[in-house]
Amino acid sequence: MVAHTLVVGGTGMLSGLCEALAGDGGRLSFLSRQACGPDGFACDYYDPAAFTAALDAAVARAGPINLAVAWFHTLKIEAPRLLAERVEGRLFQVLGSAAADPSHPWRLETAQRVAEDLPGCDLRQVVLGFKAEPTGSRWLTNNEISAGVLDAVRSDRPLTIIGQTKPWSAKP
Ligand SMILES: NC(=O)c1ccc[n+]([C@@H]2O[C@H](COP(=O)([O-])OP(=O)(O)OC[C@H]3O[C@@H](n4cnc5c(N)ncnc54)[C@H](OP(=O)(O)O)[C@@H]3O)[C@@H](O)[C@H]2O)c1
Repeated sequence: MVAHTLVVGGTGMLSGLCEALAGDGGRLSFLSRQACGPDGFACDYYDPAAFTAALDAAVARAGPINLAVAWFHTLKIEAPRLLAERVEGRLFQVLGSAAADPSHPWRLETAQRVAEDLPGCDLRQVVLGFKAEPTGSRWLTNNEISAGVLDAVRSDRPLTIIGQTKPWSAKP
């Protein structure tokens, strides 16, 4: 079966990633509230039933999810686990810079629990850091985020930091 890639939150900062992945061949689906078109599945990931229905519709259309990239505003909802349960391959979890806060050193480990006891789901993590420049530090641009996540997918590292998270005191 042709590979199926699914991106959660693919219309915002990850839209460049979607464009690049679409060029890889295979089938691409994306989920967001305003998603539209044949590849887009509109849903609010805070609504577990709607999120499940959107995942099921994507799988019905394009087959099992072989690769997923997911950006959720929080992991303290059902959606991250609902997604992990449906992934039959790699799941790239995109995390905000707070995942690298040295005063909460267990956050990456906690985030990994979405794939706990799911042998079919091979979890990778991508942390969005910042850029320290001579004029001061700043957050990443959407293009830098999409390019960094694409590099993480292509390189298949277990953990990727886009930009930097150290020294933590230098963050914007
Ligand atoms: N470290 C850095 O340098 C850096 C840089 C930029 C951003 N960030 C972090 O990333 C966050 C990104 O912010 P953002 O949310 O504005 O990014 P965004 O990429 O503009 O939007 C997030 C994506 O998720 C979708 N989405 C949002 N809420 C959803 C929901 N409830 N259900 C389903 N899909 C949903 C959006 O589409 P719809 O609107 O269609 O739902 C969009 O595709 C920032 O708050 C910040 O924490 C970090």
